[in-house]
Amino acid sequence: MQRKALSLRARGRRIAFVPTMGALHEGHLGLVDLARRHGDVVVMSIYVNPTQFGPREDFSQYPRPFRRDAALARSRGVDLLFNPANLYGPSASTWVLEEKLGMGLCGGSRPGHFRGVTTVVAKLFNLVLPHTAVFGQKDAQQVAVIERMVADLDFPIRILRAPIAREKDGLAMSSRNIYLAPAERLEAPALRQSLLFARKSATRLTDPRILKKQTLAHLHRLSPLARVDYMEFVHFQTLQPLPRILRGETLAALAVFYGKTRLIDNIIF
Ligand code: PAF
Repeated sequence: MQRKALSLRARGRRIAFVPTMGALHEGHLGLVDLARRHGDVVVMSIYVNPTQFGPREDFSQYPRPFRRDAALARSRGVDLLFNPANLYGPSASTWVLEEKLGMGLCGGSRPGHFRGVTTVVAKLFNLVLPHTAVFGQKDAQQVAVIERMVADLDFPIRILRAPIAREKDGLAMSSRNIYLAPAERLEAPALRQSLLFARKSATRLTDPRILKKQTLAHLHRLSPLARVDYMEFVHFQTLQPLPRILRGETLAALAVFYGKTRLIDNIIF
């Protein structure tokens, strides 16, 4: 991959990169569309990265429909698909760790997750040598952590954020949606509806504790099956908790379990 990237660069081609773990859906394909507007060659990686899964998480069950993914990627204009079997040597002992933005929210409930993400993304950047890389806003914390890593470690790469792709009923697209039982799938748009409720309520409420209480009550009314992992109002750039809701700067982030399936969504208001 690296030799290929070096030869593309030597010929003056601009590489736009879409890192994924496969099980592609329209959200990933939206990232490809954005990448195509910013590069001559679109590289997609498909690699289910073991180091970002916790010991009791879904690494072994994570869907791996490679042939379908390859066909979808090709049909949407991916030029090169990078599908390594394993990216870690047996004696690998080096990690990339961002120590601030990745600590709360998903980092709080998934210890070690962002260390795995930053390490694999740094490795992928060194292999694919992109000019631009595209990440989805659904993983708002992930993209903030990666932007921080790119700035702190001087990667010469421009990071682009693609908006959240949604199903018709508002559910954010995710490779994990296929795990949902029919009753859970029916209730899952409640994440989006609760975030919209929070945004509306924030026109009259500025205390995040009260806003959180009311938003969670709304969520539980809409979705009795939902088990909340976290609901936080943080600054959209620093991801630090806000003492007061700031209009234009608040990221409301929500993580919910349906059974063992963990879904996330967010909104900036
Ligand atoms: O967002 C994902 O799919 C993954 O976290 C990523 C960025 C491909 C790293 O494994």
